[in-house]
Amino acid sequence: MRTLVKETIKKEGKQVSVSGWVDARRDMGKIIFIDLRDRGGIVQLVFVPSKLDKEVYKLVKKLRPEFVIRVNGEVKKRSPKTVNSKISTGKIEILVKDLEILNESKTPPFELDKDTRVISEELRLKYRYLDLRSERMLKNLELRHNVVKFFRDYFSDEGFLEVETPILTKGTPEGSREYIVPSRLHAGKFYVLPQAPQQFKQLLMVSGVEKYFQIAKCFRDEDQRGDRQPEFTQLDVEMSFMEEEEILSLMEKAVIEMVKKVAPEKKIQKKPFPRITHVESTKKYKTDKPDLRKNKKNPDELAFCWVVDFPLFEKTDTKKLTSAHHPFTSPHKDDMKILEKNPLKVRAHAFDLVLNGYELGGGSIRIHNRDLQNKIFEILGLKEREIDERFGHILDAFEFGAPPHGGIAFGLDRIIMLLANEENIREVMAFPKTGEAEDLMMGAPSELPK
Ligand code: AMO
Repeated sequence: MRTLVKETIKKEGKQVSVSGWVDARRDMGKIIFIDLRDRGGIVQLVFVPSKLDKEVYKLVKKLRPEFVIRVNGEVKKRSPKTVNSKISTGKIEILVKDLEILNESKTPPFELDKDTRVISEELRLKYRYLDLRSERMLKNLELRHNVVKFFRDYFSDEGFLEVETPILTKGTPEGSREYIVPSRLHAGKFYVLPQAPQQFKQLLMVSGVEKYFQIAKCFRDEDQRGDRQPEFTQLDVEMSFMEEEEILSLMEKAVIEMVKKVAPEKKIQKKPFPRITHVESTKKYKTDKPDLRKNKKNPDELAFCWVVDFPLFEKTDTKKLTSAHHPFTSPHKDDMKILEKNPLKVRAHAFDLVLNGYELGGGSIRIHNRDLQNKIFEILGLKEREIDERFGHILDAFEFGAPPHGGIAFGLDRIIMLLANEENIREVMAFPKTGEAEDLMMGAPSELPK
């Protein structure tokens, strides 16, 4: 039976079998020390020639970093002088009797026992499976797991239902270019990968799901930045019969409890989160994602804020009217009377959650009425036929008892990046793409085989 490295500390005086990778090797005359690493940590193995079979000693001499081995031996207490306080198993070591080499390893292209952030992006991404062996990357994956698990549990306990929505679908306007997939059975036709599950989650409200969430993969073909990837993950939430205020407070509570549970070292600067209107924010901070930290050098400071009352529309570079959030967003009820006369002045029931100068999430109260939704499409310059072709399904759905509803989506990668004190969401994704949207390990995108 295999003993995990982290369990060896409890097995003093016992025979154990441990498996893992050679992290480092130190030859002290004839005695050889090997640091053995598994997912849970490092333990020191001691090979004393006089206590070993000759064949085993020959094998030990072959060991190099990253070889995969299994050893049997006795867990011994270290003398006080040799205790290593840097590792959790530092009070013991394993006096090895038997060694098996399960696999050899070439010398890795970069050192895995150091911070790999200094290595070139190209090399790290080509050998991502090695990069993920480094301690920091493994910690980031663990943090990601904990954040996702927390939200799954939290929303389940609040009565939300996790529903999977399709990846092969039709475009939903979130303001970015889309990835398209040719259909084999319908030549000349295409599926579109979702930028977000927006329309599906609204349709689930029409279905009577009332409270939905999903850890949802989203796809956007846009220029890359440190906080953007072509493929990323949202915590996507939608609920019926809830006002803006209720949505904000439920989401705020989720975030506060998540931080407390998975990153207790972090300090939230102000609770409840400050609320700033979009007008105030752009006037006072010249941005709609203000960084409200008091001490920007303190890595554990989290300054959340809500930016509310976004405008419903904005002008594109070509002076066309476009939705500031997306076209399903409800106009503010007090501004309904100027909707057609002065659309750029209309506020929306739309809100963003901002953290330390990053947009973490955005949401809104939605339109649930066919006539109003149709009017918004018209104001956006869509012709009747186009509205019908692109959005007929959701307009039809609104005529079958659509409840009032609203929701939000958080960029999970961004939250995890900030909790992990990383500067790029790539650092908290297992297999991200480069700044040029390439997967250097798999070699994607690629030409199709002939
Ligand atoms: P929005 O487009 O604002 O809203 O997206 C929500 C959040 O998703 C994250 N995000 C990204 N993260 C990494 N890479 C990207 N390319 C990327 N694009 C967006 C951000 C952002 O705040 N359907 C609506 C939500 C709603 O109305 O409920 C939507 O997708 O953190």
